[in-house]
Amino acid sequence: MARLFAKNGYSVALIARGGDFVNKLATEINSSGGQAAPFTVPSYTHEAITSAWDAIHQNFPKPEYAIRAALFNVGYGVWKPFLDITPQEVQESLNTNVAAAFSFSRGAILAFKDNDIEEANGKRGALLFTGATASTRGNVLTSAFAAAKFGTRALSQSLAKEFNKQNIHVAHAIIDGPIKVDRPGQTTTSGPAGEFDASVRLEPDSIAAAYLYLVHQDRSA
Ligand SMILES: NC(=O)c1ccc[n+]([C@@H]2O[C@H](COP(=O)([O-])OP(=O)(O)OC[C@H]3O[C@@H](n4cnc5c(N)ncnc54)[C@H](OP(=O)(O)O)[C@@H]3O)[C@@H](O)[C@H]2O)c1
Repeated sequence: MARLFAKNGYSVALIARGGDFVNKLATEINSSGGQAAPFTVPSYTHEAITSAWDAIHQNFPKPEYAIRAALFNVGYGVWKPFLDITPQEVQESLNTNVAAAFSFSRGAILAFKDNDIEEANGKRGALLFTGATASTRGNVLTSAFAAAKFGTRALSQSLAKEFNKQNIHVAHAIIDGPIKVDRPGQTTTSGPAGEFDASVRLEPDSIAAAYLYLVHQDRSA
């Protein structure tokens, strides 16, 4: 999503706990003609997320910049039988998937409220959430994960209703299958002969294209 939005003229703020990935990605985007800046946080507490928003505003000040789109992509998954799940894992799942989403959304909504309405689509801004199968369906190993992912979805629906009247678009995308990720230790392909099989794994670039569409989607839709 960062790469695609940068290609489409957006300046991109990348938030993560560890600097390695976002520093590298920002360098890659900047050296290919886009604009990106990394913002590292020690954790996803309310204070840390609020400080990250402050730093983003300092780095991308008004009136030169306006924050038009925000994605909450963070996810903490616990795949365990119910009786093996610790109270710490329950708390971490709720903190990461729900409480951090509240804090992030607050920063996004406050930034959007400050924007004028974009003529092209009738919106002040778009806030997106990445959901998963567990956002709508519990399963044998997902009690702690699904309970929290349901919570993120409930938050997004509530925000969509509350802020629609203020021309703020809130969307929650349910990614209902395994995404092709490119990370050490994780399988990137699962099709025949190691080929990427789109019927088995989902392509992040295609998901990003759908997100860009959602951000541009006319308010009337
Ligand atoms: N991978 C899939 O197959 C799949 C399928 C459907 C939906 N999804 C959804 O897609 C989104 C991204 O998935 P992904 O597979 O790319 O996830 P991921 O890398 O495991 O997690 C995304 C980010 O969430 C943060 N995070 C993970 N565990 C955390 C924890 N315990 N405490 C605080 N932050 C934590 C990390 O941020 P830092 O950069 O700060 O470490 C990480 O970069 C998630 O919302 C996930 O539910 C994924």
